Amino acid sequence: MTTVQQLNTQFGIDKHLSFCEDVSGLIVAEISNPQATASLCLQGAHLMAWQPRSQSVPVVWLSRDAKLAAGKSIRGGVPVCWPWFGAHAAESGFPAHGFARTMPWRVIESGKEPNGATRLTLRLEENEKTRVQWPHDARLELTVIVGETLRMELSTENTGESDFVISEALHTYFKISDIGAVRVSGLAGCDYWDKVGGSALNKQDGAISFASETDRVYINTATECSIEDDRLGRRIRIAKSGSLSTVVWTPWTAKAERMGDLGQPDGWREMLCVESANAIENIVRIAAGTRHTMVVEYCTEPL
Ligand code: BG6
Repeated sequence: MTTVQQLNTQFGIDKHLSFCEDVSGLIVAEISNPQATASLCLQGAHLMAWQPRSQSVPVVWLSRDAKLAAGKSIRGGVPVCWPWFGAHAAESGFPAHGFARTMPWRVIESGKEPNGATRLTLRLEENEKTRVQWPHDARLELTVIVGETLRMELSTENTGESDFVISEALHTYFKISDIGAVRVSGLAGCDYWDKVGGSALNKQDGAISFASETDRVYINTATECSIEDDRLGRRIRIAKSGSLSTVVWTPWTAKAERMGDLGQPDGWREMLCVESANAIENIVRIAAGTRHTMVVEYCTEPL
């Protein structure tokens, strides 16, 4: 395993990017440049924080109960769900949202963008542990570009000899003022599978507001959407490509209590997940030797 010292020597960027070891033993990349701050745990290539300098509160939310632990997902940030989203289709013992978010990834590149943003690329390849759950050869790469805008590119290359199918998501937890005070717009007219109370196909009417548990997979939508937050006086814009599903999720009181790591009693009210995904009918078939890339870009603007 690469040590913190080796990472800092090979990929550190003076004053902008450094690596440190958490008390859990996991390694975290810390980014701080004139445009923004961010941190990313190498396990899971899990972005844990992003706050542009223009914002007085973070844009990406991390639970105050979040714990870093080997082999465990971190509550909040941007979990990488791959190579399946949600429960595994056949094996109930396999982890929800796949294994990428709990595996160690390798840093392969870092740099400064011409506009001053910081770029970091990590890679996960098949190994004996991934093969137990998913018998394919693939190179998964995540590039994050941290600036006033946050860009994340998740690319899957099929390095094997036969096609495979994936579902995936960048499962972003956004920091909001209060779940009762925000709206999500951009999905009006879209079809969605409602995961609360059975699975039914519905059509979105207008903007989404929240008054109870909401867990929806919007399908066949590539459009930008946004979170409008009057109390924080900001709109978070969520643009994407290579993604045809958008998941909108808030657990509400009972599920948050069961989950137990959302910052009780009401930490869940300060977050909302809007996930760029390919799920259900939008799963992706990747032919041998080809690559599929999903890109998201987040920015804020005053309301
Ligand atoms: C969302 C799902 O994407 O992730 C929810 O739609 C799920 O059903 C949530 O509860 C959190 O999942 P996890 O595995 O991180 O607790």
